[in-house]
Amino acid sequence: MTKPMVYVTRQVANEAIAMLEAVADVEVWAEDRPIPRDVLLQKAEEASALLTMLTERIDEELLMRAKRLRIVANMAVGYDNIDVAAAKRHGVIVTNTPDVLTEATADLAFALLMAAGRRLVEANRFLLAGGWTSWNPHLMVGQNIYGATLGIVGMGRIGQAVARRAAGFGMRILYHNRSRRPDAERTTGAQYAPFDELLRESDYVVLLTPLTEETRNLMGEREFSLMKPTAVFVNVSRGGTVDEAALYRALVDKQIWAAGLDVFQQEPVPLDNPLLSLPNVVALPHIGSATYQTRLEMARLAAANIAAVLSGEEPVTPV
Ligand code: DGY
Repeated sequence: MTKPMVYVTRQVANEAIAMLEAVADVEVWAEDRPIPRDVLLQKAEEASALLTMLTERIDEELLMRAKRLRIVANMAVGYDNIDVAAAKRHGVIVTNTPDVLTEATADLAFALLMAAGRRLVEANRFLLAGGWTSWNPHLMVGQNIYGATLGIVGMGRIGQAVARRAAGFGMRILYHNRSRRPDAERTTGAQYAPFDELLRESDYVVLLTPLTEETRNLMGEREFSLMKPTAVFVNVSRGGTVDEAALYRALVDKQIWAAGLDVFQQEPVPLDNPLLSLPNVVALPHIGSATYQTRLEMARLAAANIAAVLSGEEPVTPV
C-alpha cells in the first residue's frame, strides 16, 4: 500500500520529521523563505497532510485543488491564515499549537513591555552612538513598572501567563475579555474591566487577542485617545488588530508614550513603515514564540496532530 504524503512548508526539527516519517512519506520545502504560492498549490494537490506556518494562506482555492487533503496542522497558535469554515466544508481538519508556546510568548510580551517602558533599545542605541558622556539624572528616564497598572486585552492562556508575571512585578492588573476569568482573578488578582475603562486606567496595555473580524483594527484613533499620555502600548497578537496610522499619530501627538510591537499589518514590516522611525517604538520581527525549546514543542505538536489523523485517530489540538 502506498503511504500518504505529508508536505511540510519549512524546515522543522528532525524529531518532528521522524514522527511524520513513521506514518507517511514526507517532503519539506527546504529553502529559508516562505514557499511560493504556486509550489504550495501544487504540493497540496498531492498531500494528505500539510504542516504549515502562519505565512501560508490556506483558502478556498487551495482546498478546492487539494482533493486528498485530510489535515492542515498550523505550527502556530493563531490560525487567521486559514479559512477554517472553508476547511470544514471540504472535510479538512485544522489544528494549531496552543499551550506549548504560552510561556515563551508571555515572556516576550513582558520583555517588550519592559523594553518600551524603560527605553532599553533607545538607550542601547544611544550608548553605541557615543552619546553617554556623563551620568545624568534625566538620562533615558522611563516609566515605572512596579506599582503600575497593566491592562490585558484578551485573557486567554497567554494573557493569563502575562498576568502571572505582572503579579510578580507588583503591578495592578486589569483585563478585558469576552468572558470573565474567575481562575485568573483568583490566582493573579486581576480585575475585569470594560474595554474603555481599561484603556483609560492602564499604564501598560498589552493586546493578546486573536485576529478575527471582531478584533480587526480594534485599536484605532478613538481607543488610543482614551489612553494616558504616559501609557505604553504592546502588541503581541496580530498586526491586523491595530490601525497603524492611528498608532503613529497617537505616538507623534504624545497621546501615548511608547509602543512595543512584535507584529505588523504587513510582515515582514517594510522599512519605510513610519512607526519604525520613532525612537519610542520597540519593533521586533514576530518572535513571540521564538525559543529553541518552544519551537521544538510546536513542531512536535503539529507532527503529533498529523500522525494522529493519518492513523485514523482524533487530532490532539483541533481548532
Ligand atoms: C502564533 O503561534 O500564532 C505566533 O504568532 C507565532 O508563534
